[in-house]
Amino acid sequence: MTEQKATNVTWHEHKVTKDERSKLNGHKGAVLWFTGLSACGKSTIANAVDHRLSLAGKHSVVLDGDNIRMGLNKNLGFSAEDRAENIRRIGEVAKLFAHNANFTLTAFISPYRADRDAVRALLQPGEFIEILVDATVETCEQRDPKGLYKKARAGEIKNFTGISDPYEGPEKPELVLDSNNKGIEELTNEVIAYLEKNGYLNA
Ligand code: ADX
Repeated sequence: MTEQKATNVTWHEHKVTKDERSKLNGHKGAVLWFTGLSACGKSTIANAVDHRLSLAGKHSVVLDGDNIRMGLNKNLGFSAEDRAENIRRIGEVAKLFAHNANFTLTAFISPYRADRDAVRALLQPGEFIEILVDATVETCEQRDPKGLYKKARAGEIKNFTGISDPYEGPEKPELVLDSNNKGIEELTNEVIAYLEKNGYLNA
């Protein structure tokens, strides 16, 4: 639990409620939390879903690990503590967007179950959609678009997820995407179908 350091702060209720914002936007808000190994396809799928949502006039935003780590979270590394703080901050940001009836698509390895569960606990039931982008280390290592697996194998990157650091898969994810065997378009369709089937795309 992160300590509340600031004292003398008061919570302000916003004038425009979540329901009103949802009616304005014409759909609900939710956090689509993509989790999986580096190079499993999280960012690519999140971007493709974001594109499909935007073409349909839905409000969405992508929060991507590499990008966020070059700005908001540039002071964090890859220790378990820093990864926890990385995920905590993104969870809080995603919660703000959810309150505004936006779809937030997050692409973070988020290797620790407890960190992801803490984000789920921040949100209302149904607002956290945990999506495992399932690819084996072998698949990701073959892709290795940034050459990081090679460096990790050579010992040039310490604590690399899947090689020298753990990845704890979700126990009950809302969705599992088979990134070993299926392409981006098919997986994107599966995500959109989930949103449609579960009523997220209407107010
Ligand atoms: S997380 O574990 O805290 O969720 P995040 O998704 O933000 O990680 O960042 C992962 C990205 O950082 C990887 O895609 C990769 O480009 C880069 N990276 C650099 N060092 C590491 C490392 N030790 N483990 C995993 N990813 C790393």
